[in-house]
Amino acid sequence: METTTSIYIPVHRSYHSRITEVDWENIELGLYTSDHMLVCDYADGAWQGPEIIPFGAFSLLPTTLAFHYGQTIFEGLKAFRTVDGRIQIFRPDRHYERMVKSAERLCMPVVSKEVFIEGLSRLVALDKDWVPGQEGGALYLRPFQIAVDTRLSVKVSDSYRFAIVCLPAGQYFAKPVRVKVEREYTRAVRGGTGAAKCGGNYGGALYPTQKAKEEGYDQVLWTDGQHHDYIEESGMMNVFFVIDGVLVTPPSSDSILDGITRDSLITLAKTAGIPVEERPISVDMLREAIERGRVQEAFGAGTAAVVSPIRVIGIDGIDYTLPVVGGGIGAELKESLDAIRYGRKEDVFGWNFYVTD
Ligand SMILES: Cc1ncc(COP(=O)(O)O)c(C=O)c1O
Repeated sequence: METTTSIYIPVHRSYHSRITEVDWENIELGLYTSDHMLVCDYADGAWQGPEIIPFGAFSLLPTTLAFHYGQTIFEGLKAFRTVDGRIQIFRPDRHYERMVKSAERLCMPVVSKEVFIEGLSRLVALDKDWVPGQEGGALYLRPFQIAVDTRLSVKVSDSYRFAIVCLPAGQYFAKPVRVKVEREYTRAVRGGTGAAKCGGNYGGALYPTQKAKEEGYDQVLWTDGQHHDYIEESGMMNVFFVIDGVLVTPPSSDSILDGITRDSLITLAKTAGIPVEERPISVDMLREAIERGRVQEAFGAGTAAVVSPIRVIGIDGIDYTLPVVGGGIGAELKESLDAIRYGRKEDVFGWNFYVTD
C-alpha cells in the first residue's frame, strides 16, 4: 500500500506502561488496551490537530449527544507482526473508505485519510510492543467517532471526537458455530443503516442474538428485512457457502456491511481459480441445496475470526449439519490470507501497510 504524506502528530507519552499486566498466552480480545490512544476533535466547523496521549477516560457531560441518539460510527482492523519482525496494518485504506461511507450515512464530517492512516501508523509504532509475536495474534485497532454536542435535541451534532484505541488479540481458534436463520427479527432494511458501521446496528441485534443463544445457537444468520426470504450476513461477519464447488456469497447492498475480509477472500478465491458467485441466496434454495447434499460448507468471514466455520444451520426449527466443517475452501482461503498478513507469502495485492518508527 502507498504511504500517505506526512503530518505532524504530537505525542504525550504515558509514564507507566500496563503491558506487564497482559497474559500473552491467553489474551482475551477486549480485555486489555495498549498504553496510548489517538484523539482528534472537530469543532467550529473544522478538524483540530490530532494528538497521541496516554490511554484514559474521556470527560463527557451526560447531555453528550452520542449517549442518546446513536450518532456514533466505528471501524475494526488489525496490525500484524510479520515473520521478518516488521509490523503491518491490513488494508487501512479500505477501512478508511468504509468509515467515510459510514460517516456520510450518519451526517458526520470525517477526518482526512492522512489523519486516519498516519494516526493508526504512529500509534501502532509507538505501542509496537503490544503487537503479539505469535502467529494468530494481532493488535486490534478500533477507530471510532462520536457526536459530542451537549444540547439535548435530536439533531446533527456540530462537534465530534474521533479516536483510535488498540487492543491485543490472541490466537483465534474459530470453533465451528451453530447459526440460526433469523426469520422474525430484522438487522437492516433497504434504505436503512445496514451498510454503515454504526453503533445502533449492533444494539438492535442484541435481543434476537440473545434469543438464538437461548435456543442453543451461537449466532443468527440475518435475512432480508422485508420478507425474510434471502440470506444477508451474520452478526459480525459476512457469510459464504460452497454449493456444488462454487463459492457463493450474497451481493453487498445497503443492508449488508461490505466486509474487507469478504473482499479479500473473494479476490484470493478468484486468483486460486475457485469459481465465485455474488448472488442472492434464498432460504428456500439453501434448504433444498442442503437437503440434496449440494452444500459442502459454509463459513463466516470478518476481521475478528477471519474465517469461522459453520457446523449447523437452523432453518425454521430444523437443524442441518454440513458435511465439511473447518476444512475445504474456507480453510484454504484462511491460510492464503494469513500467509499474506504474516508475511509468509508475497503481498501481490498491496494489502499490507508497513509501519515504520
Ligand atoms: C455486521 C458485520 N458484517 C460483516 C463484518 C465483517 O467485516 P470486516 O471483514 O471488514 O471485518 C463485520 C465486522 O466488522 C460486521 O460487524
